[in-house]
Amino acid sequence: MKKNLFMVSMLTFLLFTGCSENSRNNNQDLTKIGVAIYKYDDNFMSYVRRHIESSANEKATLFINDSQNDQAKQLEQVDTMIAKKVKSLAINLVDPHAAVTIIAKAKKENLPVIFFNKEPEYEVLNSYDKTWYVGTDSKESGILQGQIIANSWTQNKEKWDLNKDGKIQYVLLKGEPGHPDAEARTKYVVEEIKNANIKVEELAIDTAMWDTAKAADKMDVWISKYGENIEFIIANNDAMALGALSSLEKAGYFNNNKIIPIVGVDALPEALIKIREGKIIGTVLNDAKNQGYATFDLAFNAALGKDVLEGTQWKLDDNKAVRIPYVPITKDNLDIAEKSYQ
Ligand code: GAL
Ligand code: CA
Repeated sequence: MKKNLFMVSMLTFLLFTGCSENSRNNNQDLTKIGVAIYKYDDNFMSYVRRHIESSANEKATLFINDSQNDQAKQLEQVDTMIAKKVKSLAINLVDPHAAVTIIAKAKKENLPVIFFNKEPEYEVLNSYDKTWYVGTDSKESGILQGQIIANSWTQNKEKWDLNKDGKIQYVLLKGEPGHPDAEARTKYVVEEIKNANIKVEELAIDTAMWDTAKAADKMDVWISKYGENIEFIIANNDAMALGALSSLEKAGYFNNNKIIPIVGVDALPEALIKIREGKIIGTVLNDAKNQGYATFDLAFNAALGKDVLEGTQWKLDDNKAVRIPYVPITKDNLDIAEKSYQ
């Protein structure tokens, strides 16, 4: 009997601590919202998460989970949140194709789902009337990054066209393959440079999975293989642009006027510092603050059974998506990006 009691209290203890670990704000009366982030260890997503949490503050109890880049784990987390009776879900998918499975789970409970940052296919989103998307127009970031490259190249051709053939010899660090942002940025950045009547030659392209350390490793290899032939480094995000920069610095660049221009996307505070120092030429603001706020607003309204846009400044497009605009950032307008990441 004593042993049983001990077991029961141990279980209660485990359940209690397990639960409070990932739930913010324990006020019983507040609306419960379940959130999953594909992995906490992603620079940009850590800012989105921060803004979801700050807007929940006194309004809702968040059950927030690190899916650790594991889709199976995220599905278990969704089951647990449903069991805890959350009133809506805000999901940053690990695998964009897993939206179908999550919608099936939510539908059974008549539970609304806001997907954010990784956009599911429209057919999937349209298969359930209680699901929406918050993110960006991925294509736009590629176009704006392409414009930064075209403008800066035109102004610096004399210095930057090392082999004087009029073409940009570039290497490209890609985000996660299959991720709508990575695919669109990779395609449209190059298209936009060509639209400006600038010829390009791709020396190398590979994924570094949005990651600084992986990008530095990749860049080490490319520097030893292509060395002085590289005239531009295009990165699908700032984390990888920063990795490329550290690899170049290690190889003696950014010393004695030897530079290779680098561009990124996100406008992470660390990247803005490098833009100010002249070591990264530009980035595209991916507005973590407004994406976090919009995700929470929609999830909160949905949880209360209201129109998802009620009382908000957001608008839905024809694909049931709130799309926060991107902004091109260079040395001249760093303040816009700094404000957004405060
Ligand atoms: C992108 C962002 C990347 C990475 C990715 C995660 O929008 O630019 O840095 O955070 O989302 O899905
Ligand atoms: Ca050239």
